[in-house]
Amino acid sequence: EAAPLEERYKDSFNIGAAIEPHQLEGISGEVLKRHYNSIVAENVMKPINIQPEEGKFNFEEADKIVKFARENDMDLRFHTLIWHSQVPDWFFLDKEGNKMVDETDPKKREKNKKLLLKRVETHVKTIVKRYKDDVDSWDVVNEVIDDYAPNGKGLRESPWYQITGTDYIKVAFETADRFVGKDAKLYINDYNTEVEVKRDHLYNLVKDLLDQGVPIDGVGHQAHIQLGWPSLQQMEDSFNKFASLGLDNQVTELDVSLYGWPPRPAYPTYDAIPESEFDRQAERYDQIFELYERLGDKISSVTFWGIADNHTWLDDRAREFNNGVGKDAPFVFDINYNTKPAYWSIMD
Ligand code: XIL
Repeated sequence: EAAPLEERYKDSFNIGAAIEPHQLEGISGEVLKRHYNSIVAENVMKPINIQPEEGKFNFEEADKIVKFARENDMDLRFHTLIWHSQVPDWFFLDKEGNKMVDETDPKKREKNKKLLLKRVETHVKTIVKRYKDDVDSWDVVNEVIDDYAPNGKGLRESPWYQITGTDYIKVAFETADRFVGKDAKLYINDYNTEVEVKRDHLYNLVKDLLDQGVPIDGVGHQAHIQLGWPSLQQMEDSFNKFASLGLDNQVTELDVSLYGWPPRPAYPTYDAIPESEFDRQAERYDQIFELYERLGDKISSVTFWGIADNHTWLDDRAREFNNGVGKDAPFVFDINYNTKPAYWSIMD
């Protein structure tokens, strides 16, 4: 039987996987327990699932994941308290049911801002209080940077921003900080953090927030990467840049897609993927894990955005750009949970 991944890296960082509750059972659950020492919910802890209606929290699915982590002595990442996607509309409606973003009257805008910040506080507080003894790392906000934002600072102009400016970020961190467990850490999470423009927008925001005393402990790097992009140097520079602020880094959603962006053309089925692609991928994995290990205590955790190739969000993307046909294979275990060349390359 293949040696546990988590054992191999236990002196450097955690090895995590994103999961849906149904994956806790059966073979996927066994693989999880053997190879990973950290888990995160792929969807069930997002705002739309956890507070679908105002004041109606739904913890059932999230609880299953928390319980599994506890029973198997695994670390737990919480993903994600605040995000512009997978968030219910009610957050952004005023008491009369009007869209807050459409409001033009300054007095009413001020009132709306207060209301939304109160909702942020309630959402964060309710969740953090419930899970404070279980969660080790919190994604407090996700994807707040958008390079193409008209404000030129890369601040994503989501409804959160349009209604509160960057105050929603402050309130989310400050509220989380008031209630989290004493060893828990608070992260700002984003994708393409390796790309210079985006990295620098994120750096400037984080620096500014830290200067204001906002309690941020680290940066979560999603790392949805490809065989040839971004470069190892870009990754290394980004980790170092945030470490220079005294922050921790975590790799939070790692997958190595076989395809460029947009993913075209894609292999139609798993069997159609040539062995040479898996070899290229193994080489890539080898290099990035060597980098992670070399960075030592600058990285505390590496989480894959799935367990094995049978379940990956990248399939949706591969299909989207290929007339509904396409399969990706981003992990180190194959569709039957067997080891791939990438597994052996990172176990070296
Ligand atoms: C994805 C999930 O994997 C999909 O199942 C869901 O349909 C959409 O969200 N960045 C993130 C994750 O922070 O929450 C996203 O997860 C992938 C991109």
